[in-house]
Amino acid sequence: MNITVSAPGKVILSGEHAVVYGYPALLSAVNRRLTFSLPLQKTDYPKDIWELEKRVRDIGVKSGIPLGSGMGSSAAYAVAVAAMWLKLQGISTKKKINELAYNIEKKHHGNPSGADNTISTYGGYLWYRKETESLKTFQRLKVPTNTPSFYLINSGKPEETTKEMVDFIGERIKDRSRVIKDIFLQIEKIVRHWAQSLEKDLPFNLIKEMIRDNQRLLVQLGVVSPVAQHMVSEVEKIDGAAKITGAGGRLKGSGMLLVVHQDVEKLKLLVSTKRWDMLAITLGEKGVIIS
Ligand code: MEV
Repeated sequence: MNITVSAPGKVILSGEHAVVYGYPALLSAVNRRLTFSLPLQKTDYPKDIWELEKRVRDIGVKSGIPLGSGMGSSAAYAVAVAAMWLKLQGISTKKKINELAYNIEKKHHGNPSGADNTISTYGGYLWYRKETESLKTFQRLKVPTNTPSFYLINSGKPEETTKEMVDFIGERIKDRSRVIKDIFLQIEKIVRHWAQSLEKDLPFNLIKEMIRDNQRLLVQLGVVSPVAQHMVSEVEKIDGAAKITGAGGRLKGSGMLLVVHQDVEKLKLLVSTKRWDMLAITLGEKGVIIS
């Protein structure tokens, strides 16, 4: 028997970092996926999930999700492994897959919000909130039909891991708790505004302003590198908007920048002049698939 699992990467439209501390986030699954297949005989099932992981590593995964760039590659991997393991136990509920993937993520990252594995499991657009360690609330939102095209521009691989970036904010909260909480509250306002706006058609200028405002708050948090911020400024100069999506990075790159522009040709011209890497993405993609 051959089982194939596939899980999508994600973008965080708004709410990264704040979501670790119980504030809401708005996420979407994107059309970049990680896939692997395992030939499995009933007599030769892996005895535990770690043996399964070893087999997956040996056989190799196919992935269109850039590694360590804020697109949820590690969560997609955790979701795919969890889905495969549970399928072998005869369980295929998304709830169980998501719970197991969260535990795998915790082994790798220490204190994840659970947002990345949840969007990779369920897909679509998601409102997500980690109320407490054992209470995580989320709701799938309507996928908007009329939304601007989104692009990702690579600002360079971050030197820091997601865990290091999350720990960095953890330290900042200890020293400057008022300031950071105020930034989180402002981010929450954007998340709410954006989520409510999905009910209607989103005017381009509204999305542009929300992305710009969110990026400014992420700069204040200290999770954007000078290289990445320079790129954001260049996009803003030609009347577009860009923000990091994910944990960011301080020293070198900050991973992928989520970019919108009303005139795509202008954006493409900037990207080719600067020799940046850009990819077009579609949002609201399907979550985990087992076949
Ligand atoms: C990582 O994609 C997003 C962070 O908010 C961490 C997390 O939610 O676990 C930085």
